[in-house]
Amino acid sequence: MSIELRDTDVIWRNAKLATMNPAIKNTYSANVDGDSIDGLSNYGILEQHDLIVRDEKILAILPTGRVPANQCKIIDVEQRLITPGLIDCHTHLVFGGNRASEWEQRLNGVSYEEISAKGGGINSTVNATRNSSAQQLEIVSQKRLNALIAEGVTTIEMKSGYGLDLINEEKQLNVVRALAQKNPIEISPTLLSAHTVPPEYKYDPDAYIDLVCDSILPTLWQKQLFEAVDVFCETVGFNLKQTKRLFATAKRLNIPVKGHVEQLSNLGGSELVAEYQGLSVDHIEHLDEKGIEALSRSGTVAVLLPGAFYFLRETKRPPIALLRQYGVPMAISTDFNPGTSPFASLRLIMNMACVQFGLTPEEVWQGVTIHAARALGRADSHGQLAAGFMADFIVWDAQNPVDILYELGHNPLVYRVYHGEIMHRDHLNRLSELNYLNENSICDN
Ligand code: NIG
Ligand code: FE
Repeated sequence: MSIELRDTDVIWRNAKLATMNPAIKNTYSANVDGDSIDGLSNYGILEQHDLIVRDEKILAILPTGRVPANQCKIIDVEQRLITPGLIDCHTHLVFGGNRASEWEQRLNGVSYEEISAKGGGINSTVNATRNSSAQQLEIVSQKRLNALIAEGVTTIEMKSGYGLDLINEEKQLNVVRALAQKNPIEISPTLLSAHTVPPEYKYDPDAYIDLVCDSILPTLWQKQLFEAVDVFCETVGFNLKQTKRLFATAKRLNIPVKGHVEQLSNLGGSELVAEYQGLSVDHIEHLDEKGIEALSRSGTVAVLLPGAFYFLRETKRPPIALLRQYGVPMAISTDFNPGTSPFASLRLIMNMACVQFGLTPEEVWQGVTIHAARALGRADSHGQLAAGFMADFIVWDAQNPVDILYELGHNPLVYRVYHGEIMHRDHLNRLSELNYLNENSICDN
């Protein structure tokens, strides 16, 4: 390959590159309980290679010194690990209030029904979100986002779904847009207006779906406020018929779909998502073989959310062995939300995916890189260290990918590179401080 490097190019040298590129096969082969894992069999490790960045993309990965460096900048990372930036493909990060006291009540023995009867649960977050200004929502969301950015997340999905009317869904998505404009992170916004039935439609959920399909969805799509449509298809959410109506509306506008499905029961939502060639099915603890078969045909990603499983003290695990058997790509995500997964740490969730769901560390890494990228429709541009992909990567003070999810409580991130822009961890800490000061100055007014 003949490449003439420019002065503005950057060479990352002396790294262990976990490329996550399926084309790069190492001798390592994973085996779990006697079953070999379909798909990738390694982290795509490369050593003695230069990772060369031009502008916001990876220009090439070549054996060290293959091309003359000319005047370009060389950063020696002294044998540290470089991985793709983490991708958190399922969050409800923008919301008002929190549900800590509700959780405390539950731990003191108050039943869920009693809490709900007093206006608790998802609708309490809807209330708090409706009663917050866009500015207030942005301040609280920024703090959550800082935590994820600081630990290496470079792409994140954020859902609406706590507004549940046109004005408040728009407000939530406008906050998502503001966060995307002000932060060094790529944000994929999702419309989740069909999250739960709002109180004013309690006795007529079909009329609420009409409102979503006829007004909220087309209006906010026209304003380019989201890139996919999600639904909570569940006995306590929306039924299959309502979900189908929503997906048909999305399809008419060519909008990709995904779904919170098979979390508490099996309604067949996964098959419906597959029928619409959806991006992902999320939660899926109650998914059955028929659903898995449908996913394997449609290429839909299975998104596993161990934070919600843990926080709700669920006992039924997602059907990991069958997902492996059918070669369904599995992604992992925080599902950050106030009710079921208040964890702004993807590294913690990666650890939980191993301990609670029995995934291998390698599967978990795929789950926050290539498969998460696919769940966000970004498989060709994100989630791998490869020529032509976005220069989104992390230099870790670590030797092996497993180190990142093994030892928690301190942050091994040294550099975070987002679209080619280099940030040292001290810079990230400084950013969090600035946001904190900003918040205090707003509170003083
Ligand atoms: O992904 N399953 C539905 N939605 C969220 C929980 C939302 C909430 O409780 O506020 C979830 O777990
Ligand atoms: Fe969720």
